[in-house]
Amino acid sequence: MGLRVGVVGCGGAGSEHARAYRGLTGRVELVGVCDVQRERAARLADAVGTRAYAALDDLLATERPDVVSVCTAEYAHTEPVLAALAAGCHVLCEKPLAATVDDARRMVRAAGVAGKVLGVDYNYRHMPAFRGLREELARGTLGEPVLAQVSAHAFCYHHALDLVRFLFGPVAEVGAWIDDVPSRRDFPWHTPEEFLYVPSVSVTAVFRTRAGATVTLGASRLRALEDTLLDVEVVGSRARRALRGLPVQDTRPRVVEAWPPDAGASARMGAWVEGHPAFSLSDAFGASVAAFVDALQAGQAVPTDGHDGLAVLLLDQAVVQAHRLGGWVRLGA
Ligand SMILES: NC(=O)c1ccc[n+]([C@@H]2O[C@H](COP(=O)([O-])OP(=O)(O)OC[C@H]3O[C@@H](n4cnc5c(N)ncnc54)[C@H](O)[C@@H]3O)[C@@H](O)[C@H]2O)c1
Repeated sequence: MGLRVGVVGCGGAGSEHARAYRGLTGRVELVGVCDVQRERAARLADAVGTRAYAALDDLLATERPDVVSVCTAEYAHTEPVLAALAAGCHVLCEKPLAATVDDARRMVRAAGVAGKVLGVDYNYRHMPAFRGLREELARGTLGEPVLAQVSAHAFCYHHALDLVRFLFGPVAEVGAWIDDVPSRRDFPWHTPEEFLYVPSVSVTAVFRTRAGATVTLGASRLRALEDTLLDVEVVGSRARRALRGLPVQDTRPRVVEAWPPDAGASARMGAWVEGHPAFSLSDAFGASVAAFVDALQAGQAVPTDGHDGLAVLLLDQAVVQAHRLGGWVRLGA
């Protein structure tokens, strides 16, 4: 018997989670999907061959799942996460963990009290491009990372913050400039004083990592997702690497730059880029959900947990504070 899994929220993200669980045949049983919009739940249940619910409490009481994926809209994560944890389920919550830092803290505390795992779906970490870059950094191929530049579409800014932590470790200090036009904001639920989430026009942040690297992150609403989700360049003490042109349909970088032009390093980089089949954003959902299940079943730490989810929100909050202050904001240990 595999893990019994339910999905709450049957929009784009919930459909991706449901299909990903469906793909883990024999290891996972998708016991139900739920949406307050009944017809959305019914349509997804039909597509993936499971039962539809209009209320999470009914799904929890009837199906008694071991795991719940929370894929409701950004402002509606807290209630279902707390309900699923209280019912004794492990939870995989879509990003951002919560719409406020206080709610994110409540969720992390509730997971601790329940003794259950709270994962957060930072699926970009599972794209071969970023996994490969992290492996290169860990192997020391580039030497010590000194300077990195990340440029992203505004919709990927939140994932880019997580990738900064994933690739370069914890951040010690933040400086920032935000260009905001309130009428161009995308999310009416969103309180930009709390954290930025999606810049309306642009944001430029400078991070000093605890390890001593300087990372700049620029994100703009005026970029095109069809062009690239985000680009990364790393200048290390021994070599430079740049990954550019990662569109949503196939996130393998169209351009990989290496300096010095070390044939060995370029070939290694080329090998993992070409050695991977096309890898879309949808594949990243699949890989992330599979990695969560792998970790649960192996009794290991999940790739990104509630503490990571909270840390990304605090990093984003520090960006807003730094812009307001016109100075540097230090992050706690
Ligand atoms: N990781 C990624 O790459 C990625 C990509 C897209 C979206 N997301 C995230 O996924 C989440 C959902 O995004 P989406 O685009 O699918 O949103 P959506 O609005 O299309 O779908 C959300 C669904 O949740 C339902 N819902 C809301 N409250 C509910 C409740 N209490 N009980 C049951 N159903 C409820 C709504 O009726 C809606 O159908 C967001 O947090 C978003 O940021 C992540």
